Amino acid sequence: MSLKDKNILLGVAGGIAAYKVVQVARDLTVAGARVHVMMTPGATRFITPLTFQSLTRYPVHTEVWEYWTQEAQGHISLAREADLALIAPATADILARLALGLADDIITTTMLGLPPGVPVLLAPAMETHMYEHPATRQHLQTLVERGAQVIEPGYGNLASGAVGTGRMADPAQLVSAVRLAFGRMGGDLHGKRLIITAGGTQENIDPVRYIGNRSSGQMGYALAEEALARGAEVTLISGPVKLAPPFGCNFVGITSTLQLEQAVHQALENPAAKADVLIMAAAVADFRPASPSEQKIKKDGSGQAPNIELVLNPDILAGLKGRPGLGGLLKVGFAAETEDLTFNAEKKLQSKDLDLIVANDAVTSIGQPDNEVTLIERSGMITNLERSPKRVVAGAILDKVVEILAKR
Ligand SMILES: Cc1cc2nc3c(=O)[nH]c(=O)nc-3n(C[C@H](O)[C@H](O)[C@H](O)COP(=O)(O)O)c2cc1C
Repeated sequence: MSLKDKNILLGVAGGIAAYKVVQVARDLTVAGARVHVMMTPGATRFITPLTFQSLTRYPVHTEVWEYWTQEAQGHISLAREADLALIAPATADILARLALGLADDIITTTMLGLPPGVPVLLAPAMETHMYEHPATRQHLQTLVERGAQVIEPGYGNLASGAVGTGRMADPAQLVSAVRLAFGRMGGDLHGKRLIITAGGTQENIDPVRYIGNRSSGQMGYALAEEALARGAEVTLISGPVKLAPPFGCNFVGITSTLQLEQAVHQALENPAAKADVLIMAAAVADFRPASPSEQKIKKDGSGQAPNIELVLNPDILAGLKGRPGLGGLLKVGFAAETEDLTFNAEKKLQSKDLDLIVANDAVTSIGQPDNEVTLIERSGMITNLERSPKRVVAGAILDKVVEILAKR
């Protein structure tokens, strides 16, 4: 769901991670949101209000005692007009004050006045012992019981030099969490379950070598991000890539095609979460070494390279044809070709019994940040999209998915 013209309250408390929240304010603003920053006195010791004001182009609120005019009534207007509130970094102190319902600064006073139903996201950031302290745990639990969503901190280097849990989630994850929260409030895929595969597979030759491909995972991850932002529940099954799993997805890591096949079957067979859509964006290896060596293959001194016998991998999508229990599953495939793109893609659509196939040029799409694709539907309808960033392409693919789902 678009962030355009959404009123987002961004409460910044006095933790060192405040510097990362500058990026969050910037990214949300660039995405079209109106970002209204509130800061505790502690936060202003780390970052100046001017930094946020310059980036968001809205006044930054640091006091309860200001902005009472005909048009704006301080914390009352801020709370009344908010579509979502994000507290980042959420210090131990502000969590305690929010849990107790104190109203002793602009953030806590505004948060008390928030109308019911406005999503509240908390991004804790603090030293491990502070985070694990029973007081902090209890305050977080209280806030969750009242409906707040916690964007869990990660494990890693903390500002003190220590290593542990308490590191605030990355700015990109915070932005994804905001998108997800809006998606869950009426995105066009709200209530739908999507399984998306991404990245390339690796087929072992021996313990250190494999047959792989140049897939970066960008297309599948963009689809997952976009689907989450539209309110879908997403299971992302991914080969090894350098991307962080999008916030809020159910992530399954795989390496080989056989593992991918098993993971897809498991996700499809989950009785508690029947999938509505399967999008196979992973670059699957068509062949694998017949018998991978358990030891590293050495030069044997004969002057000859070893012959590696290959066997066919299963065609995962084709294998789902006629599989019981999948009635109503919308299947989307990708065809990466180097010649006769549309012809070959149409053939695949039919032979694999797909609802939609995304045809792209294998050479100019794989591993690249943007893509030029042709969408071919079961009905024969063909849509050519101009070369665009993969996030935009993902949006167009999901528009088609929504369209096809609506016709059913
Ligand atoms: C350099 C420095 C870094 C700090 N980092 C954190 C932090 O990451 N998380 C936290 O909970 N408190 C941190 N604190 C302590 C808070 O600033 C302190 O508890 C303060 O009262 C928080 O108030 P506020 O949440 O109202 O801004 C830090 C303090 C200093 C001096």
